Amino acid sequence: MLQVRVKPGIEDRIRGFFPWVYRAEIASLSRKPKKGELVVVRDFGGKFLGYGYINPDVSIAIRILSFDKEEPVTPELIKKRIREAYDYRKRLYINSNAFRLIHSEGDLLPGLIVDVYGEYAVLEFTTYGMNRFREVVLEALVETLRPKGIYEKANLTAQKVEGIKVREGPVYGEVPDEIVIWEHDLKYLINIPEGQKTGFFLDQRNARKFVRSLVEPGDRCLDVFCHTGGFALNMKKMGADEVIAVDISEPALEVGRKNEELNGLSGIEWVQANAFDYLRELDRRGEKFDVVVIDPPSFAKNKHAVPNALRGYKELCVRGLRITRQGGYLAIFSCSFHITEQHLLEVLTQASYDVRRQVRVIAKTFQDKDHPWILQMPNTLYLKGIWVEVV
Ligand SMILES: C[S@@+](CC[C@H](N)C(=O)[O-])C[C@H]1O[C@@H](n2cnc3c(N)ncnc32)[C@H](O)[C@@H]1O
Repeated sequence: MLQVRVKPGIEDRIRGFFPWVYRAEIASLSRKPKKGELVVVRDFGGKFLGYGYINPDVSIAIRILSFDKEEPVTPELIKKRIREAYDYRKRLYINSNAFRLIHSEGDLLPGLIVDVYGEYAVLEFTTYGMNRFREVVLEALVETLRPKGIYEKANLTAQKVEGIKVREGPVYGEVPDEIVIWEHDLKYLINIPEGQKTGFFLDQRNARKFVRSLVEPGDRCLDVFCHTGGFALNMKKMGADEVIAVDISEPALEVGRKNEELNGLSGIEWVQANAFDYLRELDRRGEKFDVVVIDPPSFAKNKHAVPNALRGYKELCVRGLRITRQGGYLAIFSCSFHITEQHLLEVLTQASYDVRRQVRVIAKTFQDKDHPWILQMPNTLYLKGIWVEVV
């Protein structure tokens, strides 16, 4: 197997279970590497550090799958990891038939994402090295889940960065365009081919549950960046009198309307608009809400985008605070690991000062537990939410 020695000083981080080796940290290779091939990673003196795969064309050149000398990367190891990931999810009691089964590094399977929607699974390969295990992964998913169908989503970033030939479409059995899943006591329509991400924002499950504890019958609520109505439906279910759900995507709103009907609910106002313009307009009109949830897409895809993203967040927090009535609640989320919890808190502090509204933090929520994050990689905690009460 290809042997890789890392530069002096890198070994402790890897011994501490950090699973990446950057290209610039490689001291030597036993020969010219082939894209995606398996490697043994060693410290500068030659001591074993881990087994992984390499892509010499990208900055994160090596991803480690095993830190155990007795556990090399084999098809059996991949299958075992998939079974373990499934066993872990079974123990979670997430109260839904839709969950993330494989969360890449979080399940010690870097480069693989698998979401389960009832009897169907959706998978994405995000690295060249993991894509080479596609047959093994498929076999293990069929053995573990016994699904009716598996759909592969093309990850275009992976195609561009890692050079994978991405595929899109069913790769096992048959997958209908629309699937109905349940979460808590609500049903959701999932359109796998057309939907954003793999079809649904599974990571917000616990936050969708939490919002229920804040809504009182008769409340007026606002779900900004609502997608297919995750928060809006929960608000309505709790007896909110008026719920406005805003998103820029008409197809997402269309699914939202169907979700409302599917759950025997009515009266949600679905608004197709740019959230920034719409919030400005609500503010100008002096509108007030009891509960406001703002769950934007990732504004910062890389660290250079952070200053601009923070300006966007500031605007959202200012408008959000101004339209939340005294005693009401506001939640603001970041799903970009570049915009940290600290960033959100700072932006909220500035917004609170600017609009002269005092707030207190009542909760923080994070990506739900089927999206585990790696302790040594704070950036794998990508979804953060701060919930405040306007006092
Ligand atoms: C993180 S998702 C929201 C997920 C949702 N809260 C849920 O629980 O399913 C972000 C949403 O923002 C929408 N979006 C992106 N840019 C927007 C904009 N400028 N104005 C309004 N919506 C936007 C996307 O269409 C997407 O549905």
